[in-house]
Amino acid sequence: MRTQVVIVGSGPSGLLLGQLLANAGIDNIILDRVDRDYILGRIRAGVLEVGAVDLLDRAGCGERMHKEGLVHDGFELSFLGRRQRIDLKGLTGTSVMVYGQTEVTRDLMDHRAATGSKTIYDAANVTPHDFDSASPYVTYEQDGVTHRIDCDYIAGCDGFHGVCRASVEGKGLRTFEKVYPFGWLGLLADVPPVHHELIYANHARGFALCSQRSHTRSRYYVQVPLTDKVEDWSDDAFWDEIRRRLPQDVAEAMVTGPSIEKSIAPLRSFVAEPLRFGRLFLVGDAGHIVPPTGAKGLNLAASDVHYLFEGLREYYAERKAAGLDAYSSRALSRIWKAERFSWSMTMLLHRFPEDGDFGSRVQEAELDYLSSSQAAQTAMAENYVGLPY
Ligand code: FAD
Ligand code: DHB
Repeated sequence: MRTQVVIVGSGPSGLLLGQLLANAGIDNIILDRVDRDYILGRIRAGVLEVGAVDLLDRAGCGERMHKEGLVHDGFELSFLGRRQRIDLKGLTGTSVMVYGQTEVTRDLMDHRAATGSKTIYDAANVTPHDFDSASPYVTYEQDGVTHRIDCDYIAGCDGFHGVCRASVEGKGLRTFEKVYPFGWLGLLADVPPVHHELIYANHARGFALCSQRSHTRSRYYVQVPLTDKVEDWSDDAFWDEIRRRLPQDVAEAMVTGPSIEKSIAPLRSFVAEPLRFGRLFLVGDAGHIVPPTGAKGLNLAASDVHYLFEGLREYYAERKAAGLDAYSSRALSRIWKAERFSWSMTMLLHRFPEDGDFGSRVQEAELDYLSSSQAAQTAMAENYVGLPY
């Protein structure tokens, strides 16, 4: 088999890149080690920056998002019994779109199927080869048979635990990492959201987040120790805990119900440098991870796709490599700013028992400053809605 670009990974990065390439007449094959239903069963991000919204439109996949997604002009911070709204629209002129990663992925998969581009699910032992030569190829196994796809380029869109970053270890890869001493326990339920905007809460018992997927489906999170197991959290225990961490009027208004999904995600900051190794590119979570507090993971995947797509489009249309040569540095420049923002939101809103009372007082001072300074609110809003591509 031969194609122009092999894309490893059928998450949002791989699917979005594949759709943009297919629309531009650039042939591509996507390989994933699991199947479509498994991918759609993963409940992850919920907030899209305007750049990601524009890119989905550009890929021709934005129609349902505009119909069913919820435009949010602000969000709230809750701390010390106070509530502070961050007026995203008023401070930056920009809003965000609340539309779940599951729906983004479903829309991209449906469009890909309609386009007729090839996706190979359940591909085992996917391996990139010879990407530092002019003739790279990828092998995979299915039903006991090894297959080979020759290509011009390989896009590593295979997430944090994928094979692409692993295959460049020892080839000049440098990594930067911070692991946080807690995780997020998330619960999805078909109950109306407690508030029309998101609420991020700093509470003595730990962080809490009230998010949503629609007017009838809510997504809630609480900070938990890494030693907690999801099996130990009944739905009732979750609802009791999140209500303790929210202002009384919010807690009293909360509608509870049985969970559809419940899981614990660890929090990590991670960046790999560079993001290009010959004819192999790292894209999205394959190259970097942010803690979810700033809602940046999926949005960074989208900006990486934008930079790589521009480079590939230019290469195939004009035989120029400038965009591909600049991919790593352009993407990393935006990635590090989102890493900084996600780290700072995480440090501001979570409880770090090892930092003691001093740490709590510093957080309180920063939140107090934020309430009194429009400049500080604007800086937060500007980063939350997303820095320009
Ligand atoms: P992924 O979505 O991870 O997709 C990678 C794909 O590659 C997967 O389909 C995988 O099966 C495939 N793959 C992996 N290894 C191989 C292999 N060897 N061969 C072939 N295929 C392979 N972000 C937020 O903004 N907010 C959140 O609340 C949030 N919650 C999250 C919760 C969890 C548990 C995780 C893991 C991430 C969360 N994120 C969140 C981050 C966000 O979901 C990611 O940034 C986003 O999914 C990145 O998309 P991606 O396509 O780069 O990677
Ligand atoms: C969601 C997740 C986030 O990390 C965040 O900051 C906001 C919303 C969500 O899953 O809805």
